Amino acid sequence: MGRDKLFSYEIIAECPHTGARAGKFYTTHGVIEMPCFMPVGTQATVKAMAPFELEALGARIILGNAYHLYLRPGVDVIEKAGGLHAFMGWDRAILTDSGGFQVFSLASLRRVSDEGVEFQSHLDGSKHFLTPALVMAIEEAIGSDIAMCFDECTTYPITEEGAKEATLRTIKWAGLCKKAHSRRDQALFGIVQGSVFLSLREYCCHALVDMDFPGYAIGGLAVGEPKALMHEVLELLNKFLPKTKPRYLMGVGHPLDMVEGIARGVDMFDCVLPTRNARNGSVLTSMGKLNVRKKELKEDFSPLDPNCSCYVCRNFSRAYIRHLHKAGEILASRLCTWHNLHFMLDLARKARRAIIDGTFPDLLEHCREVFGDEAD
Ligand code: GUN
Ligand code: ZN
Repeated sequence: MGRDKLFSYEIIAECPHTGARAGKFYTTHGVIEMPCFMPVGTQATVKAMAPFELEALGARIILGNAYHLYLRPGVDVIEKAGGLHAFMGWDRAILTDSGGFQVFSLASLRRVSDEGVEFQSHLDGSKHFLTPALVMAIEEAIGSDIAMCFDECTTYPITEEGAKEATLRTIKWAGLCKKAHSRRDQALFGIVQGSVFLSLREYCCHALVDMDFPGYAIGGLAVGEPKALMHEVLELLNKFLPKTKPRYLMGVGHPLDMVEGIARGVDMFDCVLPTRNARNGSVLTSMGKLNVRKKELKEDFSPLDPNCSCYVCRNFSRAYIRHLHKAGEILASRLCTWHNLHFMLDLARKARRAIIDGTFPDLLEHCREVFGDEAD
């Protein structure tokens, strides 16, 4: 790949009926076909999966987290290892979240000011002060391909006043992150905040677009707001975010939310649910969700999903996986995680194919029928 292509987004096809697009994004660790689902590897591991298995599943990019890795094992350890790719044995792309979400959801005794966030570690209570410049230093030392700006993620519901304060701070921090960021082989993405207030979203979007990031994330959604409000925000941002840059909807990964996001111009998604739910025996299927603990599956020798072509569905039965789960066997978690990640990665690939083939509206309709009345 020529250097001129690095961090460029190329549109391959657009759906004429929705905002969906198929594209490619070029990173130092490979080309990422979009729309894409990114498995979450918060602690330098996608829980229960070895890197070669993620490769076999077709994952092109995974997530890491600056907040977690800074607290443990510490940035110095990762730096000495030669960066996160070498440390964890993964040579495809990595995106790091900045900690702007985790510091607000996991840490205690926070004090937020325009300078940064003082907090106590959720691990050992030690005190820390994260600033935009420090977060940039952490993400650069980790060496991810895509780094996220430090932002203030709001909870839901929140007053317009509260959302405005967090949004203005997020914009200010984005400017400081951009100034502090220096790695040429790492793309820095801005994060649009503004909760469900459309005027705040629009203001934040324009302010960040003026700073000219190579990609934009949409934060502060999927935090308990009604779906209709999430869709309104996405429709608004689809109008104002540049078509020539990738858009990433943070923390969203229910199958229908992903496809509804794609329909509104989003290219990248991540979510812990497919991996977390898998460890509780909850799997995604082409007919909806299924829990392997159900006693009706005791002698059900069919695969988790008869329409799935993954390794697990080709080789094991519901009855066997139910048995493993009941017996507390580690393989139950591994097989369910494998299948769920396959489901999400494959759904993103199917969406991409459908956009190219001109059948995306049919896929959207089908997902609404299958997953439409499911709570998260
Ligand atoms: N993960 C899910 N939502 C968010 C968000 O708003 N900000 C960040 N930094 N990470 C997230
Ligand atoms: Zn399967």
